[in-house]
Amino acid sequence: MSCLSLLPEYTCDNMLGKGSFGETFLYTKKTNNKKYAVKIIPFGKYGISGIESEIKILEKIRKNICSKYVLCLKKTVVLDNNLFLITDYNNGYTLDRYMKHFSQSSPKVLLLLFRQLLSGLLYLHKLDISHQDIKGPNILINDTFIKSIKSGKINSSCNAMLIDLGLSCYTTKCQLSGTPQYQSPLFASAILSGKYDISINDSKKNDIYSLGYMFYMAANKGKDPYNEDETDKLSTSKFYEYIIKNKPIVSNYNTSKNKNVNQYINLLINSMLVNYNKIKINKLLSFISKIFKMENK
Ligand SMILES: Nc1ncnc2c1ncn2[C@@H]1O[C@H](COP(=O)(O)OP(=O)(O)O)[C@@H](O)[C@H]1O
Ligand SMILES: [Mg+2]
Repeated sequence: MSCLSLLPEYTCDNMLGKGSFGETFLYTKKTNNKKYAVKIIPFGKYGISGIESEIKILEKIRKNICSKYVLCLKKTVVLDNNLFLITDYNNGYTLDRYMKHFSQSSPKVLLLLFRQLLSGLLYLHKLDISHQDIKGPNILINDTFIKSIKSGKINSSCNAMLIDLGLSCYTTKCQLSGTPQYQSPLFASAILSGKYDISINDSKKNDIYSLGYMFYMAANKGKDPYNEDETDKLSTSKFYEYIIKNKPIVSNYNTSKNKNVNQYINLLINSMLVNYNKIKINKLLSFISKIFKMENK
C-alpha cells in the first residue's frame, strides 16, 4: 500500500513496518511539523469486527493517563475503508534488532529495560488488558536507549515501550493467538487440549512468560531459553510438547563485576519463565530495585 496523500493534514515520509494487520508509516503533520507513526488497517481484509478490539483497547488506554511504557493512541481516523491509528513516533528501533547487544551492556542498562517493560505490562494488566503478542518486533526502544547500550550509562530519556495491541484482549476470555515461540507451557497445554481460548488471568500469566522470554534473550546474547538444536525443526505442536516436557535453560548473564548482581538478574529471568503462573509483577519490580541498589554499592 502506498501512503501518499491518504491523510490530507499530513505528509507521508516512509514505511516503518509491516505486520499481520496493516502497515505503519511515518507521517509529519503539516501544521506543526511533528512526527507521528500511523498504522493503517484496511477493513476490507478483516471487516470492522476484526479490528474492533484493537480500537476499543486503544480507546480504553487513551481514557486513562497514558503510560510512558505503552504506545498511546492520539487519534483515530476512518477514511476510504481504512482505519488510521495515529500514535506518537518513537525514533528508535524495535528490540529484536538490539537484543543481543544488551547482554554485553552494563546491568544498569539491562535492568532499566526490564523495569520499563514490566511497568508497561503492569499498567496494561491493571486496566485488565492482556497484551498477548509480546515479542521483539512489538517492543520499541528509543535512540537514547540505543546509545546507552554502548555507553553502559542510563539517563531519564531512555525509553522502552510495548506496542501493537492488535491481538490484545480485555474480556473475560482471550483467544489463543500470538507467536508460538513466545508462548508459555500453560498456553501450549490449552492449545494441545483443543481449547480456543483461555481466561484473561491465564493470558496475563502468559504475558509474564513472554516478557521473561524476551528478557532471557536480551541477557543471553540473543539466544532463546531452549536448546535451539532440538527445537529448530519442530512443528508447532511438537514444539509445544517440548516446552511442556523440558525446563528452560538457566540464564547465564555475567557482565557485572558483582557476582551477586549477575546471579540475581539470572534468578529474575528464570523465575519469570518457570513461575510465571504465580509471580506478581509488583514483586518483580521491587526485586529489580534491590538489584539496582546492589549494583550501585
Ligand atoms: N510509534 C511507532 N514509532 C516507530 N515505529 C513504529 C511505531 N509503531 C509501529 N512502528 C513500527 O511498525 C511495525 C509494525 O507496527 P505494529 O503496531 O507492530 O503492527 P502490526 O500489527 O502490523 O505488527 C513495528 O514493528 C515497528 O517497527
Ligand atoms: Mg506487530
